[in-house]
Amino acid sequence: MTTTSESTEHHTPSGAARLLPGAPVAEAVLADTAAAAARLRSRGITPSLATILVGDDDASAGYIAIKQRQAAALGFASPHVHLPATATQTELHQAIARFNTDPGVHGLLVQYPVPGHLDYDAALQTIDPDKDVDGMHPLNMGRLAVGLPGPLPCTPAGIEALLAYYEIPVAGREVVILGRGATLGRPLAMLLAQKRPTANAAVTVVHTGVPDWARYTRRADILVAAAGVPGIVQPEHVKPGAVVIGAGVRYDGRRLLPDVDEACAEVAGAITPRVGGVGPTTVAMLFRNAVRAAERASQ
Ligand SMILES: NC(=O)c1ccc[n+]([C@@H]2O[C@H](COP(=O)([O-])OP(=O)(O)OC[C@H]3O[C@@H](n4cnc5c(N)ncnc54)[C@H](OP(=O)(O)O)[C@@H]3O)[C@@H](O)[C@H]2O)c1
Repeated sequence: MTTTSESTEHHTPSGAARLLPGAPVAEAVLADTAAAAARLRSRGITPSLATILVGDDDASAGYIAIKQRQAAALGFASPHVHLPATATQTELHQAIARFNTDPGVHGLLVQYPVPGHLDYDAALQTIDPDKDVDGMHPLNMGRLAVGLPGPLPCTPAGIEALLAYYEIPVAGREVVILGRGATLGRPLAMLLAQKRPTANAAVTVVHTGVPDWARYTRRADILVAAAGVPGIVQPEHVKPGAVVIGAGVRYDGRRLLPDVDEACAEVAGAITPRVGGVGPTTVAMLFRNAVRAAERASQ
């Protein structure tokens, strides 16, 4: 799912913790992606990321424009379909089907949200799993669970990339994730428990079924907030010196309300900034998924 977390605003907390902004991570991922795109073009293949927008939401149109500019900068094609707000579920599925069967399209996303009369999850399930750049199709969740190659869910993959970029050891350490949602907590748990040098963690997932969840977060070497409850993570929930990744956010209009209270920077050893942490890495992962899809399709 491509969310409204694509803000570029940047704030710095007042505490002593090392800051872990997402922008340099995204730049590194995008530089690798541009190089992979150039290799494909030298073989006559132009990687492409297609987008579908339904309706006239200004913010959604803005996010599409950002992706199209990014696509151009990376040397991707970016075919786009804009359906009216009155489009039916069938018309949305037909637009997806046209991109599914187009061999020149390697990645495809439907901008979230769609108008209320449409079923976004049902549409997601009609996307060709090999072109699912959000990595959220049930088949790709299954591939992740059993360790098969395929598009990875963008935000979890972005968090793994962020930890790797800042050379934060993950293997053998205790990662506690607050939240077991399908877009974030659950796939992140699967990803960071995989047998790989940048993962290989002891992962614990806590949620509303664990009322004393602070007992777990207080022992975490790496704490990931993925609840979507503003200010749920307070300094007393953090082990001194721990790494804190704030991924959960809620929006009050355009105002972003993060899960992690800014005062956590006084206790943590390293922390993502209030704004500009995980978000930029999520967008970069869309393009990494698309170029990898193009590579797999051309093998
Ligand atoms: N930065 C990004 O790019 C990005 C991308 C995707 C998502 N997100 C954000 O990540 C957050 C999670 O997304 P999601 O789709 O996974 O959400 P979700 O499906 O709503 O999951 C939220 C999880 O948090 C748990 N939770 C909520 N309140 C809690 C509480 N008081 N105590 C303990 N656990 C609590 C819930 O527990 P139960 O399961 O028991 O209900 C649930 O597992 C959202 O804020 C979303 O906006 C950010």
